[in-house]
Amino acid sequence: MDRPVVRAAVIVLLALAGDVAPAVAADGGHPDIDKMKAEYRRPPARPVENAALVELGRDLFFDPVISASGKTACATCHRPERGWSSNEPRSPGDSGRPTQRKTQTLLGIGHARPPFDWDGRHATLEAQAVSSIGTGSMSMFATPNEVKVDDIVARLRANERYVAKFRQAMPGAPINLDTLVIALAAFERSIEPGQAPFDRWVAGDETAIPEAAKRGFVLFHTEAACSGCHIGWRFTDDAFHDVGTTTTDPGRGRELKGNTKMQFAFKTPTLRSVALRAPYLHNGSAATLRDVVDLYVKGGIDRPSRSPMINPFDLTEDERNDLVAFMQTLTGEGEAK
Ligand code: HEC
Ligand code: HEC
Repeated sequence: MDRPVVRAAVIVLLALAGDVAPAVAADGGHPDIDKMKAEYRRPPARPVENAALVELGRDLFFDPVISASGKTACATCHRPERGWSSNEPRSPGDSGRPTQRKTQTLLGIGHARPPFDWDGRHATLEAQAVSSIGTGSMSMFATPNEVKVDDIVARLRANERYVAKFRQAMPGAPINLDTLVIALAAFERSIEPGQAPFDRWVAGDETAIPEAAKRGFVLFHTEAACSGCHIGWRFTDDAFHDVGTTTTDPGRGRELKGNTKMQFAFKTPTLRSVALRAPYLHNGSAATLRDVVDLYVKGGIDRPSRSPMINPFDLTEDERNDLVAFMQTLTGEGEAK
């Protein structure tokens, strides 16, 4: 018998004796692996309080009728099969002008802590949607054939199917911008990340992910210190940090002008289904996950705003690839529904 087989046999014997110490488990090769995994165990899905409201919101989210031109839907940029984001660094909005930043994912947003957007400029999902429709990506704002929000509401009031759906979802309430965004936000809160191979591993299935990904997870949580910000089952602290990217965009610093630490700071993205939505970062400046890892290893640009958690460190080729292999296990199943 060669050594790994002997080791496996010993583990089985110890397990049978009810006496297996985590230190001898083959899993990820770290003594605290079970404790680490426990920090990423997912909670149950958020309960749906008003199914009719969520369904109305879903219809509206996929319907270009709520854009000025009638051609752009929320889902034009937040594409379910692309991890509820897109593969463009900047996407053309309804006016044809590109967005200032990369489309954020909406996966798990019902669990996220406000404020929203890369720079946290909206306190609620409802406020975010008001601005998308009124002046943002859904709007032909400032173009010659300017369409007003009232015109969009009028289209919904003239549509029997929507009239019935609004009545069912919010009996007695008028169809207006307020109720429109209440429905959109209710739907957004129902966008749960799908079960990923990583979740099955955390739940105990050792075959669910490759060994490289297990090593990558350990690095993520220890030496590479990614979990300093990408913590918990959604892999985000919902906070704002400057990770040292090359950018002229002040991010959170545009909102908090006098705050040195918030210059070039952006909201930590969830890493759920991250493999589906290259390119990465607020400006789409990293083409691949490997590019992102290399940026962290270099430590990015040293400036007063850069997070104290971001510093150059050493990581071998294999270790960098292990980190990428780990992130590839976060792709959820059945998200594009
Ligand atoms: C043209 C592309 C595009 C369209 C259409 C679009 N979005 Fe977005 N969305 C973005 C971009 C880009 C951002 C990041 C904005 C920023 O930080 O400046 C974003 C951010 C968001 C966020 C914040 C996410 C977070 O984690 O904080 C929410 C919520 C959102 N969009 C919902 C919607 C809804 C609802 C609609 C339809 C009413 C919509 N979006 C239409 C591109 C788009
Ligand atoms: C100081 C907090 C912090 C640490 C530590 C950190 N990140 Fe990030 N991460 C962020 C923020 C903030 C962003 C968005 C930055 C931007 O767009 O400028 C981000 C973006 C990313 C993205 C791009 C996701 C997307 O949707 O565009 C990936 C992938 C990523 N981080 C992986 C990692 C890995 C791997 C590590 C460890 C080597 C790590 N992060 C360490 C805060 C952090």
